[in-house]
Amino acid sequence: MIVLGIETSCDETGVALYDTSAWENGAPASQGILGQALHSQIAMHRDYGGVVPELASRDHIRRVLPLLDQALAQAAMQLSDIEAVAFTQGPGLAGALLVGSAFAKSLAQGLQIASIGVHHLEGHLLSPLLGASAPTFPFIALLVSGGHTQLMLVSGVGKYELLGETLDDAAGEAFDKTAKLLGLDYPGGAAISKLAEQGTPGRFELPKPMLHSGDLDFSFSGLKTAVLNQVKKFEEKKIVDPKEIQQFHADLARGFVDSLVGVLVSKSEKALQQTGCKHLVLAGGVGANSQLRAALNEKSKKGRFEVHYPPLDLCTDNGVMIAFAGALRMLADNNGSTTSGAFDIKPRWDLASNNLP
Ligand code: KG4
Ligand code: ZN
Repeated sequence: MIVLGIETSCDETGVALYDTSAWENGAPASQGILGQALHSQIAMHRDYGGVVPELASRDHIRRVLPLLDQALAQAAMQLSDIEAVAFTQGPGLAGALLVGSAFAKSLAQGLQIASIGVHHLEGHLLSPLLGASAPTFPFIALLVSGGHTQLMLVSGVGKYELLGETLDDAAGEAFDKTAKLLGLDYPGGAAISKLAEQGTPGRFELPKPMLHSGDLDFSFSGLKTAVLNQVKKFEEKKIVDPKEIQQFHADLARGFVDSLVGVLVSKSEKALQQTGCKHLVLAGGVGANSQLRAALNEKSKKGRFEVHYPPLDLCTDNGVMIAFAGALRMLADNNGSTTSGAFDIKPRWDLASNNLP
């Protein structure tokens, strides 16, 4: 089955074509990726310091058709080769989701094929199956994106249990807000990570919120406030030497990354211990973070669990993960998940509420 995937939940328009025969034949799942095209709106939103929902929706409208043409050309296919359309139904920005939903449903109706609404996080958490070392079920998924920070127990496709989540800021949000405090452009996750590489470990010992809370929940807003307090203290000193300012920023970025990564790694280990799972999957935009990957690799070397990553280019939002998740869901429940003609979207949507029986 050839599945078209459409992602428009936030600031990336992603379109991809996935052929399920690789998966069905037990070949590496990545072989099913036939074509993919992506447009990131980051440059457009940068001037505003964050995503402007109305601009995002309008840009998705502009991009989605040319991207579909691009993906089809890459796959050497035509519209008539598509057998099902998967689209991000939620969670995300309502207007942005509506563009993908309307586009997918209209196309499906026109082609007389099925459409399926996919949970954005399901896309992220199944994407490590497309990586070089794919996990086996059950596994723990650490989902760290701009909007979510969750630990999930994944027993199979469509079988998810939420173990813990952030009570306030998401990990990516904490990265982006901290980046702003350090004068870096939006979204600042990757830039903070790079800056932290030049930082002195231990100059700033920032709090590790909820490290010993006894549960698997997170909280990152206090960490951001701790960064703000250090910035204010530094500004009071009225230092003008650019080198000293640069070093301060790098050291503070290092303190921030070390704290945040410390909490994420510790809670992931706890989730593995509590469930007895031997596989951890890292997914979502923050999953591209090199310090987090290094820390998890280090822990897993001690032998008690294996870590699995999506291919680096599939960490942040993309159409492939939506085509893939939609395809696996359709295979898992014999197309029972396919949706009606209504343009229904779910801007707020709990993943476990969408479990398969
Ligand atoms: O999953 P994603 O593309 O979009 C959402 O669904 O939110 O994640 C975007 C988030 C942003 O907050 C961005 O700053 C963060 O992922 N991010 C990173 C890195 N690359 C992207 N954070 C830390 N280190 C990175 N290398
Ligand atoms: Zn995402």
